[in-house]
Amino acid sequence: MTAPPANAEPQKESMGIDPYERNWIRFSIVLLVVFLTAVTVAGFAMGFQVPGEEARVDPATITEAGPFANPGVRQIAPGEFEVYVVSRTFNFDPAEIVVPQGATVTIYVTSQDVQHGFKITDTNVNMQVVPGQVSKLTYTFDRVGEFPYICHEYCGIGHAAMFGRVRVVPPSEFEEAGA
Ligand code: CUA
Repeated sequence: MTAPPANAEPQKESMGIDPYERNWIRFSIVLLVVFLTAVTVAGFAMGFQVPGEEARVDPATITEAGPFANPGVRQIAPGEFEVYVVSRTFNFDPAEIVVPQGATVTIYVTSQDVQHGFKITDTNVNMQVVPGQVSKLTYTFDRVGEFPYICHEYCGIGHAAMFGRVRVVPPSEFEEAGA
């Protein structure tokens, strides 16, 4: 070890932070800002929601009473619908959900047995389905078409066969069907 010469320039960095470390600190701060921006844009501009635990139910009795005893679509206001879905090995009840284009649909899902998943293709509806809990998300179907929903959490031998579909039809067609 040699001592620095007596006339050495005083260190420029305050607090004596190594330049390499200082760059990583800057990078970390930039990352935090990026993530905060992404979460804010997703939550407020793109309408992302966290599928929270909406309610608790008893998996053994959900088919006897309450909304899950009669799963399916109900219209609650003009353009507004709610759907109750029961997941079980290895199907969804109902296996088909029909709504008119533009419908805002609040989906309630629970499981009768083991843990499942509920993901609607091409939408941001993506929920974990846990027995004893009700998962809830709201989505507006702006496009006519078919949107398959799948179980995306491995639940047993028939997991891959566990799916259904949302059919979004033109409003006129929906009315004709008398739904
Ligand atoms: Cu149900 Cu995988």
